[in-house]
Amino acid sequence: MARSVYVDGRYRRYAEAAIHAEDRGFQFGDAVYEVVEVRDGRLVDAPRHLDRLDRSLAALSIAAPMSRAALRHVLHETIRRNRVRDGTVYLQVSRGAAPRDFAYPAADVAPTVVCLARASRPERIAATAAAGIAVRTMPDIRWGRCDIKTVMLLPACLAKAEARRHGAREAWLVDGDGLVTEGASSNAWIVTPAGEIVTRPRGPEILAGVTRQTVLDTAAALGLAVVERPFTVAEALAARETFITSASNTVMPVVEIDGAAIGDGRPGPVALRLREAFGRYADHASK
Ligand code: PDD
Repeated sequence: MARSVYVDGRYRRYAEAAIHAEDRGFQFGDAVYEVVEVRDGRLVDAPRHLDRLDRSLAALSIAAPMSRAALRHVLHETIRRNRVRDGTVYLQVSRGAAPRDFAYPAADVAPTVVCLARASRPERIAATAAAGIAVRTMPDIRWGRCDIKTVMLLPACLAKAEARRHGAREAWLVDGDGLVTEGASSNAWIVTPAGEIVTRPRGPEILAGVTRQTVLDTAAALGLAVVERPFTVAEALAARETFITSASNTVMPVVEIDGAAIGDGRPGPVALRLREAFGRYADHASK
């Protein structure tokens, strides 16, 4: 099926969708993005994603390319044109195209907006969640503003490639103090032997995941105690269970870290319960 990609006001055929060679997203990674889950044809947690997009744009002094209502329309129209019922929609806003110069271009340079939607196979993700995934730990070599969701993702690509080389699906990034910051494209969680759910607090070292926030809401609604504090790799290895959260996978159990089984090597009950309950606490208001 031919797919259609939104680029600067027009929906183009997938093979023909293109941005300018001097787009600052391409040349400098001077762009921010969001990945929103689509479930049953509806956007999941769209308000939180668009709030974070606003924060990312503001942090980089990139002007909002259009109103929130217009952005939502683009998201929905991209989903509709691509007939995505379950999957993700990707939205990127760069500072725009201008002759290459490190300094920002004039204010009248319009941001570039790209939106594309992709179907996923929910049954395949469910099967992965039923088995759990392996992660590999490695040093976090990213910059000091990981709270801004920029397309500057090379360290994450390197980390994922290294994880894959070891048969792991995700990388857990570790700071100079031996504390896990987050996954290469997910937030990291453990359940301690005492049953406490732990995840790193928001700050410049991590992306404040939308799924992370909705899982915090879900845990609160289920009466499960969560402590927001950093944890070490050793604590994760000794944990009762571990899991990651992201828009593309919601709650995904982690059953192995650096080749060592976590708990009994199977997805834990807390992760599975949060995964099952997540949909009840996420926002699905927008069709
Ligand atoms: N990644 N941390 C990082 C570094 C991420 O890239 C992501 C998301 C998350 C989880 O955030 P959220 O729950 O809002 O998806 C945490 C997306 C899915 C991606 O880049 O594909």
